[in-house]
Amino acid sequence: MNPKFTIISRFQNLSLVVLSLLLLTLANCGKIEEAAKTVEPAAGTFTYIYTKTLKTECIECHTPTGAATLEKRVAIDFTTQALAYKTLTEGLVAATDTVLICPNVKLVASGSPSTSYLAGLLLTEYYKSNDFADVSGCAPDSVHTEKKNALSTVEKTSIADWITNGAKNN
Ligand code: HEC
Repeated sequence: MNPKFTIISRFQNLSLVVLSLLLLTLANCGKIEEAAKTVEPAAGTFTYIYTKTLKTECIECHTPTGAATLEKRVAIDFTTQALAYKTLTEGLVAATDTVLICPNVKLVASGSPSTSYLAGLLLTEYYKSNDFADVSGCAPDSVHTEKKNALSTVEKTSIADWITNGAKNN
């Protein structure tokens, strides 16, 4: 083979390698972007509620050292998604202010937003100024009115749908 030709062909091979590497990198970038998109949680799941609402709007007060725990002895803890799920789905209303006593009212009553204190607290259509969940004198506290207004429509429907569909750990 003519040496000149060999050099050219080597050079061509090298450019092919560089080009392939470039294409591979581009293809991977696309994949990474796709993966990021699929991580976005679906509305109506607990993961959605935790990431979009509890973690951003509520965590400042609902941790073991937050105002709700220290001032009102409310035991819900939004530090992690697992703790948020556990404390919301296993808990009863704990607030001790005289006007707010709701004995045996669940924070989340699976399948029933109208008797779930969480829904009464955050969703206007489930709020009752008296006799919430048929408990005389029970009224979800207004400390959350401002938060209620801050939530988007999809955040609100996600809470209602999640409870209606069995409050799953999804
Ligand atoms: C500024 C502090 C603050 C923020 C932010 C806040 N809360 Fe609260 N939350 C409280 C306090 C204080 C109480 C107890 C008040 C009461 O019911 O007397 C409470 C009570 C509750 C209760 C009832 C618990 C019980 O056992 O009585 C739930 C459920 C709740 N909050 C959910 C939320 C959610 C969900 C958000 C976010 C959308 C949120 N909170 C944001 C302060 C806060």
